[in-house]
Amino acid sequence: MQTDAANRPVTIVTGGSRGIGAAIAERLAADGHDLVLTYRERADEAEAVQRACEASGASVLLHQVDLADLDAAAGVVPAAVEHFGTVTGLVNNAGITGRIGGFLDGSIDESELVFRINVLAPIVLTRAAIAHMATDRGGAGGSIVNISSGAATTGAPNTYIPYSMSKAALNALTTGASKEFGPVGVRVNTVSPGTTRTEIHAAAGRPDAPDERAPGIPMRRPGEVHEVAGAVAYLLSPDASYTSGADIRVAGGN
Ligand SMILES: NC(=O)c1ccc[n+]([C@@H]2O[C@H](COP(=O)([O-])OP(=O)(O)OC[C@H]3O[C@@H](n4cnc5c(N)ncnc54)[C@H](OP(=O)(O)O)[C@@H]3O)[C@@H](O)[C@H]2O)c1
Repeated sequence: MQTDAANRPVTIVTGGSRGIGAAIAERLAADGHDLVLTYRERADEAEAVQRACEASGASVLLHQVDLADLDAAAGVVPAAVEHFGTVTGLVNNAGITGRIGGFLDGSIDESELVFRINVLAPIVLTRAAIAHMATDRGGAGGSIVNISSGAATTGAPNTYIPYSMSKAALNALTTGASKEFGPVGVRVNTVSPGTTRTEIHAAAGRPDAPDERAPGIPMRRPGEVHEVAGAVAYLLSPDASYTSGADIRVAGGN
């Protein structure tokens, strides 16, 4: 999507410093978006993504925030509006799985953290974004994409049931918000990646998970981050102007 300078979309991508979020940022920059990229701690990697996006002509604001801190999460949309004057898109991408393991081995503290980052922070960000975008509040409309997971519909037994639960909740955010705010110009959709090559698997304690899972994937390979980014770019583009409440699975057939 090419845009003129005065009419560029402004999109927030949470967790834009690496992995799927970084690929989304670089794809959106190439498509003509200006960007607000949040990250938690890896400033060097966030700055590298910023430079790559700027090389495509994007104006980029980096915003450090721990999304487990919901008061801090509430500051993301206002910071974006203050910097760019508007926000037209939000990608709720940042997420954690918790450690891979049996359901009985997990701690409730870890489950709470998974729900804070994967569910409560997206509620906070989505509320703020819609309050800014909704046409009945003086906004110009907008588009929100929630990065869920194929795990939302499998339950992820023996792996990470609380993570699966959190992504099922995120799917319900898409369904409900798309219906409640369709009349006021806000589209809300989901992209559900299958196993994709990023560092999230090492953080979960299984760095080799993508290759280990390949035999169970119809396409016999894990996904690559750019394959998820393309679906997000589509949903944020005018090509998706009548698409809301959808869930695009980017999961190799699973
Ligand atoms: N990779 C997969 O196989 C897969 C499959 C299905 C769904 N997904 C979903 O895709 C999304 C992105 O996953 P990924 O694989 O790209 O993950 P990743 O490589 O681990 O990257 C996670 C990103 O989220 C940020 N982040 C993590 N915790 C945060 C917190 N407390 N506050 C703020 N930012 C935080 C990180 O920032 P820092 O760099 O500063 O740490 C980083 O930018 C997640 O929602 C995940 O559930 C991934």
